[in-house]
Amino acid sequence: MAFNLKGRSYLKLKDFSQREVLYMLDLARDLKRAKYSGTEAQTLAGKNICLIFEKTSTRTRCAFEVAAHDQGAHVTYLDPSGSQVGHKESMKDTARVLGRMFDAIEFRGSGQNAVETLAEYSGVPVYNGLTDDWHPTQMLADLLTMTEYCAKPLHDISFAYIGDARNNMGSSLLMLGALCGCDVRIIAPKELQPDPLIVKVAEANAKRYGARITITDDPAHGTQDVDFIHTDVWVSMGEPANIWETRIKLLKDYQVNKTLMEGTGNANTYFMHCLPAFHNRDTKVGEDVFQKFGISEMEVTDDVFESDRNLSFEQAENRLHTIKAIMVATIGGR
Ligand code: CP
Ligand code: NVA
Repeated sequence: MAFNLKGRSYLKLKDFSQREVLYMLDLARDLKRAKYSGTEAQTLAGKNICLIFEKTSTRTRCAFEVAAHDQGAHVTYLDPSGSQVGHKESMKDTARVLGRMFDAIEFRGSGQNAVETLAEYSGVPVYNGLTDDWHPTQMLADLLTMTEYCAKPLHDISFAYIGDARNNMGSSLLMLGALCGCDVRIIAPKELQPDPLIVKVAEANAKRYGARITITDDPAHGTQDVDFIHTDVWVSMGEPANIWETRIKLLKDYQVNKTLMEGTGNANTYFMHCLPAFHNRDTKVGEDVFQKFGISEMEVTDDVFESDRNLSFEQAENRLHTIKAIMVATIGGR
């Protein structure tokens, strides 16, 4: 079957087949090599890309901006205070305005329905830069990083996600593993295990692509022999600050620490995190949590974070190459 991603939006992994995802992965590898070797060709010259950020960002915004500049495109950045989006103008109306000016639109905010509406009414490709439900651009970066650090075929790669498995990262990694035919383990207390509707879709993909899914509340069992352990913050953007106490209670036994890393029985287990991470008191949130609850490390301990097993900065760099691949695949060239 022929396929072509030109004109497509990238809103969530479940809209894509394995082959389409692997095509974007391959393209990201090509673009990474081209940038490193100084042979990059600009396929987005003259394109205009709108970046809407209703939530804050370091990596996603910078990756879109640098990728666009590398490829010859221009970007317009809209933050929540710098536009009418949401508060004075509906997403449907915004979509119909921006679609007349831009070749593609990136959106980061709470609602998955907002990014879906943008895609439906703008008439141009829309990229989900994170919603409460999904973080699909992060998934390509994580996949690229895992394939760079594990020589096994995709089907033999095993990875675990431990922590809040109902958030955008937990759901997305479950879908990624299912779509790529991996051995994927989701480890969380029962209260924070994935939404059954998402598990159902993941299981259908797992059947199609030969993935193995384990969902457990037992960290030692779930991480046996894994190649990678992913985690994420215990409280996501947009969640109320008063939820910290409950989350700390629920997740304190799901921290990635030396015991967990060494307990996998696999001397090559790597640690992964989309970032930002709370591994010390060097942030305002980290210090606040310490003052209130007396813990200075949350989802990952500082020794694991500062160790040579930590791939989170590789992931961060790969946001650039993979976001570039998404844009080139969907709006590049003629
Ligand atoms: N991983 C990630 O999305 O980082 P930012 O929030 O900094 O964009
Ligand atoms: N789950 C986190 C991911 C940040 C990149 C959040 O939504 O805040």
